[in-house]
Amino acid sequence: MLSLPRAGRSGSALLEDGAARRRVLVPGEIHVQMSAFFKFINSSIGKKMLMGVTGLMLCLFLVGHLAGNLLLYVGPDAFNAYAHTLQKNPVLVPIELGLLAVFLFHIFLAIRVTLDNRSARPVPYALDEAAGPGRSVASRTMIYSGLVMALFVPVHLINFKYGDIVGGDLYGLVVRTFQSPGWALFYVASMAVLANHLRHGFRSGFQSLGALCGKTDAPARMLSVVFGVAIGGGFLLIPVWAFLFK
Ligand code: HEM
Repeated sequence: MLSLPRAGRSGSALLEDGAARRRVLVPGEIHVQMSAFFKFINSSIGKKMLMGVTGLMLCLFLVGHLAGNLLLYVGPDAFNAYAHTLQKNPVLVPIELGLLAVFLFHIFLAIRVTLDNRSARPVPYALDEAAGPGRSVASRTMIYSGLVMALFVPVHLINFKYGDIVGGDLYGLVVRTFQSPGWALFYVASMAVLANHLRHGFRSGFQSLGALCGKTDAPARMLSVVFGVAIGGGFLLIPVWAFLFK
């Protein structure tokens, strides 16, 4: 028999159904936990950790997206069949919405962390050792390369996701787009910026999660450069290939 929840010492309650005793939250406790969550998001460590998690999730998406795009090299049938299979999948829309939320949250956190850092450190970068010579160009320009990506993605979606796909031929749309020198150049430049963002961001994500120590830092830096070049370079070669050889 189910009994009514009894409030515990901490404001939580025990729900008894004879065989099992489950701890349930009462409104006061939910409020305490929510405010702890918002406190965490507002702390500098919380913002960094969430930026790391969301950044690594976006990295995962990029690996999958590049792997799918490599089918362009196989030919129109393989690429269009892959695109149609994706588009038919009922879980696509929830995944897209989740991806959009992660992308927007990552941008929001990046802007907040940058503004926090600037107000905490009013000394100009050129005079500040912590931000100066010791840091790579990629590291110092993260906010700018990130903002370029934030502008790139909507343009990219207009091109390919909402572009003029004639007779279900997405392959044809991609190749036609990259045969225009302007678009090919835009994509090459954007992918170079992406490579730069990832070569610092990949390692930074793990560092923000506390996953690196003195021993693992150097290999992580190397791996991050390899990741940035492989992903950014992998995407970059597609417009070059389509422009030159299609
Ligand atoms: C040369 C490089 C790239 C090519 C050829 C390419 C190609 C495509 C194509 C054809 C689509 C449409 C897929 C469909 O409608 O089924 C697409 C969607 C998308 N692309 Fe790319 N892409 C490239 C780079 C990137 C990069 C660097 C990013 C992120 C920074 C990105 C993010 C996205 C997103 C978020 C979508 C929408 C996914 C969805 O809603 O299912 N793409 N891309």
